[in-house]
Amino acid sequence: MEKTLIVYYSKSGKSEMLAKTLREKTGYDMDKLEYADKDRISFPAAVIESLRKTTVGIKGDAHNPAEYDRIIFVSPVWGSALSTPIRSYMSVHRENIKAYSLIAVCGKTGLEGTVKDAAAVMGKEPSVSEQYISAQVGKGAYNLEKFMAPED
Ligand SMILES: Cc1cc2nc3c(=O)[nH]c(=O)nc-3n(C[C@H](O)[C@H](O)[C@H](O)COP(=O)(O)O)c2cc1C
Repeated sequence: MEKTLIVYYSKSGKSEMLAKTLREKTGYDMDKLEYADKDRISFPAAVIESLRKTTVGIKGDAHNPAEYDRIIFVSPVWGSALSTPIRSYMSVHRENIKAYSLIAVCGKTGLEGTVKDAAAVMGKEPSVSEQYISAQVGKGAYNLEKFMAPED
């Protein structure tokens, strides 16, 4: 069986809801990322980081990605780009990531820019990617089947 790790960050809870649902349905291991030096980030600071494509120190990256066949990232969309902790994880661990997929949680849209941001950091596009609208996530109206291996 393919070994998969979910890696997520969430500022306001929607990406966390998706990540936890995926974990419940599959039993995949999971890491919750946080900023190493602060409990929360303000909206304006997050916008600036998305524009600058900032990377920061992170915590929560407990599992070794080298031991997995693929990583599924779950990230909020910030300014049509990745959230800073997810970009930072990719930047630190990319050499040890064999394949990855990307779930982008957005207010309206932003998958294209987020995939572009990920590809720039990782040096390759995600095998599977999809955007989920946060209002739909709040209602539980989403389907994660394309992120599950056939045998899961
Ligand atoms: C700094 C910041 C920038 C954002 N930029 C976008 C954007 O470019 N496009 C969009 O559709 N939503 C944008 N949003 C909305 C979030 O993507 C959306 O609220 C998402 O559900 C947040 O996920 P979370 O609840 O896991 O933090 C932005 C939110 C923040 C905080």
